[in-house]
Amino acid sequence: MAENVAGFHLTGEIEMPTQYKKVISSIGLNPLYTNKDGNSTLFHASCLNVMDSIPANSIDMIFADPPYFLSNGGMSCHAGRRVSVNKGDWDKSKGIEETHKFNLEWLRRCQNILTKDGTIWVSGTSHVIYSIGFATQQLGFKILNDIAWYKINPPPNLSCRYFTHGTETIIWAAKNKESRHYFNYPLMRKMNNNKQMQSLWSITAPKPEEKIYGKHPTQKPVALLERIILASTKEHDIVLDPFTGSSTTGVAAYRLGRYFIGIDNNKEYLNLSTKRLNFEQRTKHTVKEEIKTVEKDIERLVAV
Ligand SMILES: C[S@@+](CC[C@H](N)C(=O)[O-])C[C@H]1O[C@@H](n2cnc3c(N)ncnc32)[C@H](O)[C@@H]1O
Repeated sequence: MAENVAGFHLTGEIEMPTQYKKVISSIGLNPLYTNKDGNSTLFHASCLNVMDSIPANSIDMIFADPPYFLSNGGMSCHAGRRVSVNKGDWDKSKGIEETHKFNLEWLRRCQNILTKDGTIWVSGTSHVIYSIGFATQQLGFKILNDIAWYKINPPPNLSCRYFTHGTETIIWAAKNKESRHYFNYPLMRKMNNNKQMQSLWSITAPKPEEKIYGKHPTQKPVALLERIILASTKEHDIVLDPFTGSSTTGVAAYRLGRYFIGIDNNKEYLNLSTKRLNFEQRTKHTVKEEIKTVEKDIERLVAV
């Protein structure tokens, strides 16, 4: 089959680049969903099984938002009301040793499938982030930054016995000590009024329009994922999210022209992902069509 310089197949409706196609077919599972553009794919399975079949050195960037294992009967505040923090059975803790064992298992697989200069971002609260940090050190990742994501308007602390939890940590690490990771320094600087961007990021919780198809209990804001993707990947890179949930990573990847693979073992969350990704595809084409119409109008006006 003919290929152009960017490695795209030139025949067929869906233009999948060779590397992305190779990764998808290596998984040996029928995807639950592939979008019409052929650049976003979802798998309904455990991420451990899926990552076992992905060839080594094939993924450019991974964003992981693993279970925090905090759903153990605690209380929080939502819209001024006292609510349970329980997110679901997938978020129940089996104890710190089991949690650490699980973190080592999935992180080991992530390290194997990352390209030699690839990077991983992992977000978490205090329930899980120390285990993640220790596991990345044990596995020989190279830690690049620990971002403090400041949520600006976090829910108040009802017990009044602690400070309000206003931040979440996001660890950014390269595959290993030899990695020469990609960082779009000029763009980050530009996005920060021409000053070096710090590791303190002020980004609000997901906006209501990010939840029109339903809510995931731990949904991340699209703005957070857009910044992560812009900072650490190039156009057409392959981005993977092993705990994709509502696929915030997929939405941001699609908007920015990256290839996306999302995995989750919960079908309900994947149905939400599908709706969000379909919406992105539909609106992208509407906007493109709008631009074409406007351009034609301008051409016509200029010709008169
Ligand atoms: C913290 S949430 C991710 C939320 C996501 N970042 C978003 O913006 O919607 C973690 C997700 O991991 C999924 N999960 C838990 N264990 C898993 C496993 N072993 N393999 C794949 N997914 C898993 C849960 O179903 C849940 O949707």
